[in-house]
Amino acid sequence: MILNTELEYKGNLFPSKIVFYKKNVDTLYFKTENNVTLQVTVERDSVLRFRFATSSIFENDFSYGITMYASKGYNKLEIEEDKNNYIITTSKLICHISKLDLRTAIFDAKDKTLICEDELGFHWEESYEFGGDIVKMSKTSLDGESYFGLGDKPVDINLKGKRFENWATDSYAYVRGADPIYKAIPFYLGLHHKKAYGIFFDNTFRSYFDFCQEKRNVTSFWADGGEMNYYFIYGPEMSEVVSNYTDLTGRPHHIPPLWALGFHQCKWSYYPEAKVKEVTNMFRELKIPCDAIYLDIDYMEGFRCFTWNKEYFPDPKRMVKELADDGFKTVAIIDPGIKIDNEYSVYKEALEKDYFCKRADGPYMKGKVWPGECYFPDFTKPEVREWWADLFKELIEDIGVKGVWNDMNEPAVMDVPGKTFPNDVRHDYDGNPCSHRKAHNIYGMQMARATYHGLKKFSYPKRPFVITRSAYSGTQRYTSTWTGDNVATWDHLALANIQVQRMCMSGFSFAGSDIGGFAEQPNGELFTRWVQLGVFHPFFRVHSSGDHGDQEPWAFGPTMTDIVRKFIEIRYQLLPYLYTAFWRYTEDGIPILKSLVLFDQHDQHTNYRNDEFIFGEKILVCPILEQNAKGRRMYFPIGKWYNFWDNSIVIGGEEKWVDADIDSMPIFIKEGAIIPKYPIQQYVGEKIIEQLELDVYFKEGKEVSEVFEDAQDGFDYKKGRYSLRNFNLVGKTNSLTILQFKSGKFITTYETFKINIHSLPFKIKSIEVDNEEIDIKMLNGNITFVITKEFRELHIIG
Ligand code: GLC
Repeated sequence: MILNTELEYKGNLFPSKIVFYKKNVDTLYFKTENNVTLQVTVERDSVLRFRFATSSIFENDFSYGITMYASKGYNKLEIEEDKNNYIITTSKLICHISKLDLRTAIFDAKDKTLICEDELGFHWEESYEFGGDIVKMSKTSLDGESYFGLGDKPVDINLKGKRFENWATDSYAYVRGADPIYKAIPFYLGLHHKKAYGIFFDNTFRSYFDFCQEKRNVTSFWADGGEMNYYFIYGPEMSEVVSNYTDLTGRPHHIPPLWALGFHQCKWSYYPEAKVKEVTNMFRELKIPCDAIYLDIDYMEGFRCFTWNKEYFPDPKRMVKELADDGFKTVAIIDPGIKIDNEYSVYKEALEKDYFCKRADGPYMKGKVWPGECYFPDFTKPEVREWWADLFKELIEDIGVKGVWNDMNEPAVMDVPGKTFPNDVRHDYDGNPCSHRKAHNIYGMQMARATYHGLKKFSYPKRPFVITRSAYSGTQRYTSTWTGDNVATWDHLALANIQVQRMCMSGFSFAGSDIGGFAEQPNGELFTRWVQLGVFHPFFRVHSSGDHGDQEPWAFGPTMTDIVRKFIEIRYQLLPYLYTAFWRYTEDGIPILKSLVLFDQHDQHTNYRNDEFIFGEKILVCPILEQNAKGRRMYFPIGKWYNFWDNSIVIGGEEKWVDADIDSMPIFIKEGAIIPKYPIQQYVGEKIIEQLELDVYFKEGKEVSEVFEDAQDGFDYKKGRYSLRNFNLVGKTNSLTILQFKSGKFITTYETFKINIHSLPFKIKSIEVDNEEIDIKMLNGNITFVITKEFRELHIIG
């Protein structure tokens, strides 16, 4: 923590005793003798907001992070006081506020255990240089407490013992432990005594988090300006904390189009057109499924956004259509820097309309990026966002590009200290004018938001697809993301695994890494291991820097090509499973990847695991992260797991060795799961789905699985045109019953399910579908049969 004060050497300042208290519906105000006001808002029974003003005047209450759709309301709100405290009670929480100094302590309302308690609590330093305060909060770290979250930090899952900074930064070839990198997500989870809570510090200034590094038993967070404004979010389950956090900061406005969950191939850069075609043709020739092909900056004329280099791409509309006819969706990059060029219409228009960011004394913010000297739109101004959105008309509506990739939006500036705008740059901040100190961390988010709205407008009635590099809390509402310019090393493969899990835990599930590594070149083994991991990442894209050799699935010889194909095919088979997980995530915000600690926080063995995770609800994955490995040790969460490759059963609760030569990886299915599968397609929509396969894994007991389907694109599902199937499985010593409950108005193209029963512990005597007996035939020890998709009850009797 910063301990020297700059003004009159006042040092840290603290609230004094409460002299005034007022309640206004869901909000309580506590004022101290030295003029500090604490505002506590009961957002929900499990979510409290704390805001402090040091001179009794709050800032205009505006946040880019919080969604307008956040739920409000509580079942219970009681305020009492005793000698020392004001006591707020909801159905989930009890919050004490000390009359002496505004310090808080929060307890679980049910069992009265302490969840989170201030150490020094709120304190501040006055900032002589910028005005306002450096706002600080410190909390006691409770016995055995662990910390998680914070977005894209490239360190172990458990953040305990470390200090971090949030300041979006272009970080080419970052290393393990580098901080900060591209994103600023000031949200963390604390876990102790098997109970979890979260803190979202909604402050866009440069902020800091210290998890017991400075002091063994203290966790603190602070920011260079703005208000101490944070949300306390209770679980006690970690998944509930993330769900409540995404209720506040938003979930994706819609499910991605199904194609966006397929495989994406990217490189800096594929050009000219003949090269793009060579790559896409190769995918089809080698029968490696692929849905998206990317155009990096070289498609533009001198890197001018919204232009085309006509020498390389003489007829983009024709090319994009030909690619589309072959099943490829074209995704094009758009950066924020607009080249200073009087002949360039985008530049001229923005200049005329006064849309570029300016320095404090009036000159434009000039900075060098790929096109050379640029000016930068102020995406924090609504009018600028609308203008930007409209710029996509030609690219999307006329040319037919399906997705847009926003890069360099930290914002990145080359050849200057700090690699970004200087602090004095001015921003509109949606009518709350401010300097770059406050707007920096949300600049990329507002760019991606404007891009999203442009795509939404011009892709309609299809769904937009956007990807962004920089993000602040809430960016998950608009776009997908990746972990930036990583490196082709084994350690980076391990980091990619952690970073994507961490992004999921931080509310942003549509995330992936540059598969194979962006900088430098992987060997075939590393590339293949990375694709294996990528199959289980929500965003699945190979990307690399062109000056480091080829990184297409066939670049490492036929053996690796075959393995890579096999794994991409698994992804395509699992599309209905992943799509269902995405639908769940957009509904309730629970991460698509569940780190083991989030999957089972009650098992302490999971608290420090980095490698294993649950993909969706039922698939346990553990990537191979070492060269020449023939397998690895991994921890199995408590429960029974089926080996995906041979159906052998593993009893969880301990570490075990798993064989996994280069053509395999550890994949396990939770007992009782029903996994939906599509046939292998070369791209989404290549085939009409004529049958849905259901892989059923026996369990003695109950398990619920679900499958969500719709038109795979468009917004009709929001009007009820979806098909949601719930499967309730009940296994007993000599019977297996599956009940199906169906809802929604969408009619799937297929009429039947192919049921594959894995490892039944009894010999089948008969199978009944809705009380009628059917014929069975045995296949490889598994039982496979076809039944109508309308079935209500399937009964296998032993
Ligand atoms: C940045 C991006 C990278 C992209 C390159 C050129 O380094 O992170 O993905 O390929 O710029 O546009």
